[in-house]
Amino acid sequence: MDHTEVLKPQTLDELIQILHDIFANDKVNIEEVQSIMESYESNPLEWMKYAKVDQYRYTRNLVDEGNGKFNLMILCWGEGHGSSIHDHTNSHCFLKILQGSLKETLYDWPEKKLNGEMVKKSEGVLKENMCAYINDSIGLHRVENPSHTETAVSLHLYSPPFDQCQTFDQRTGHKNAVKMTFWSKYGERTPFAIAQSQENN
Ligand code: SIN
Repeated sequence: MDHTEVLKPQTLDELIQILHDIFANDKVNIEEVQSIMESYESNPLEWMKYAKVDQYRYTRNLVDEGNGKFNLMILCWGEGHGSSIHDHTNSHCFLKILQGSLKETLYDWPEKKLNGEMVKKSEGVLKENMCAYINDSIGLHRVENPSHTETAVSLHLYSPPFDQCQTFDQRTGHKNAVKMTFWSKYGERTPFAIAQSQENN
């Protein structure tokens, strides 16, 4: 079924249900997922229990494991917080803004043998309710909250789920494998010992 013509999720729970239906099929229609995620109108009352802010870095908060087909998570970006330049481990990445705005900068993959500044492809600002998409064939990206006064909150869907990615040094293109951690799962703080032994992107 093409969900875009019939369904506009009225709540976050409805959105999650629709995503389960879509990802039950093995073929992913990128435009369909993007448009359904975009059509959900952010309601903070529905997602605030997942939106955990940390003073020092952005947090990743697991919302749903998508029957093993995807991970849906809420990321909270304090003023000026940002990610490294990173890849998406051969997965689809959908990124919807729930509050505030995020700057997304796209980069080409670095040339294998060259050691130098990474090439910036484009940059843009994503505003509330917009949904962006990226995968490894499109390139790499860095995501940042450009605001000095407002926390940004975003909803990310990764399919298939992954817990490790590669980060890149902007000046040299050198890469590093990084394990990714959840600050909380289903609204509950991840036990400290686990959270501490892993790295955020
Ligand atoms: C992203 O890829 O959009 C954000 C980085 C992350 O998942 O930690």
